[in-house]
Amino acid sequence: MPRHVAVVMDGNGRWAARRGLARTAGHAAGEVALLDTTYGALAAGVGTLTVYAFSTENWRRPVDEVRYLMNFNKGLLERRQYELHDVGVRITFSGRRDWRVPKQVLRRMDDASALTRHNTAMTLNIAFNYGGRAEIVDAVARLVADGVSPRAVSERTIRSRLYHPEIPDPDVVIRTSGEFRTSNFLLWEMAYAELVFTDVLWPDFRREDLYAAIAEYQRRERRFGGVDE
Ligand code: IPE
Ligand code: IPE
Ligand code: MG
Repeated sequence: MPRHVAVVMDGNGRWAARRGLARTAGHAAGEVALLDTTYGALAAGVGTLTVYAFSTENWRRPVDEVRYLMNFNKGLLERRQYELHDVGVRITFSGRRDWRVPKQVLRRMDDASALTRHNTAMTLNIAFNYGGRAEIVDAVARLVADGVSPRAVSERTIRSRLYHPEIPDPDVVIRTSGEFRTSNFLLWEMAYAELVFTDVLWPDFRREDLYAAIAEYQRRERRFGGVDE
């Protein structure tokens, strides 16, 4: 079983367009997908599920859609944090807390983290205002602020300054909606992840699709640069 599964939840807009709905209806429909996938991961014994909810590039979208996504993610935490807490899920966040994220959204994020921080059944890590390059930039800035000398710069000293050094690297990264790119997700952490692509649009994604991706991962041969005996 992979210890850490990460998902680029993509295709909400196209899901909505196919139904003649506004793009935002696709985001709303993604909530069921997220919950079913989370419970599926929990049941399967996955240690951490990281989901890409909002990227540092998503600010380029129309202001109405950005505003919708901010409110949607805040509402999702308000609606779901207690049930996730009840089943032992620890909720964490990866991303930048910059001035663009509304205060009430940050407050909900802090509440959800605080409520669930001692839970151990699974970690649901929400990548929000997240960019892989931004994460590396932030880690380097901390390294410099900590006064680390050039000789002490290493993978270990950089890694320890990433957003969640305690979470193991993802074993498998899934991207939905038939796009074959990583879009600035977990750049450092996915160095040796197995990539699984599916045509399923995120609002249609369910635990069965997660299990199919895990089965695909289990058929892969991981070598980490070495050779097989
Ligand atoms: C993913 O769905 C959700 C976010 C990026 C927030 P999209 O909104 O990117 O949907 P498509 O790719 O336009 O279909
Ligand atoms: C990646 O999806 C970001 C999230 C799922 C939050 P995008 O839809 O933003 O990625 P691109 O623009 O197609 O690369
Ligand atoms: Mg997209």
